[in-house]
Amino acid sequence: MKIAFFDTKPYDIASFDKIKDTANISIKYFETKLSLDTCALAKGAEAVCVFVNDTVNAAVIDKLSELDVKIIALRCAGFNNVDLDRARERQIAVLHVPAYSPYAVAEHAMALLLCSVRRIHKAYIRSKDFNFSLTGLAGFDLHGKTVGVIGTGRIGRAFIDLCRGFGMNILAYDKFPNKSLDVTYTDTDTIFQDSDIISLHCPLTEETYHIINEKTLDMMKKGVIIVNTSRGALIDTNALIESIKDRRVGAACLDVYEEESDVFFRDNSGHIMDDDTLARLISMPNVIVTSHQAFLTEEALNNIAETTVENIIEFSTKGSCKNNLA
Ligand code: NAI
Repeated sequence: MKIAFFDTKPYDIASFDKIKDTANISIKYFETKLSLDTCALAKGAEAVCVFVNDTVNAAVIDKLSELDVKIIALRCAGFNNVDLDRARERQIAVLHVPAYSPYAVAEHAMALLLCSVRRIHKAYIRSKDFNFSLTGLAGFDLHGKTVGVIGTGRIGRAFIDLCRGFGMNILAYDKFPNKSLDVTYTDTDTIFQDSDIISLHCPLTEETYHIINEKTLDMMKKGVIIVNTSRGALIDTNALIESIKDRRVGAACLDVYEEESDVFFRDNSGHIMDDDTLARLISMPNVIVTSHQAFLTEEALNNIAETTVENIIEFSTKGSCKNNLA
């Protein structure tokens, strides 16, 4: 079994090389992302392995089909970058890793929230410069605050558990509420109106695209903190920036960004930032941006590698796989 591996990072090689020999697969690693221009690199491979910002649209799938690729193995949970209908038409399996560590993402969401609320990002820089002044660092207690959680799947539930530990009140919204979950479900309007903190844990779909927009931002409490570790396009970034400038949104903690695919996962430090929207966001003292790293723990990386390889082996030996989306 030959796999063409796109958008490779050193941590991918470390986790996949650990298991590839025992699984009897050969992996060719490419630094470049999968796109129409790079598809040809998959020649001779039965499977391509891709991540969140690879392009897997209809044109790319057609090309992969011409190359006789049978499997698109996502080494992530989200699949909004894949044209599943076209994959079905072309009879290419789309395998994903539904769960690898919800704790990794939930803990990162909480880390961003704590960092923002207690101004750790500011204090860290100050103390590096021996500036021990406390002016401007006043935060607030999370205890007793209301957090609105949108999406109560694996990650949302893990995040709710963490919030409970902090003594927060929880409001939840999910299109498909989980009846066994001990939480107060409500509608999105109530979440927007009553929450001190809103954390997004739903997938990106046509319905959830820009779920945070000018209208919904207007409904929110003054000073609300928005946490997004899910997908960038859940938020209309320009509307968010306007609300921060108007001092209505108190802070934003973002691990994802709607135009992230051109900038995240690489070192842009020696370049002029072309993306003015991202530059504006990053310039704001109450915005924390991390580069889609919520998943990045040792446990998650090992689980991702194991499940991705198991998926590929299961499909190639049985012709079906429980994690096939297509
Ligand atoms: P999950 O599938 O376990 O849960 C998603 C929940 O969202 C489900 O309960 C589902 O019913 C709900 N949902 C679906 N449509 C909805 C809608 N229109 N409105 C509200 N809720 C809706 O997924 P999981 O594992 O909890 O992941 C959630 C999201 O986190 C993923 O879709 C992905 O975008 C993101 N993610 C981000 C990572 C990162 O590194 N930043 C890593 C892994 C996932």
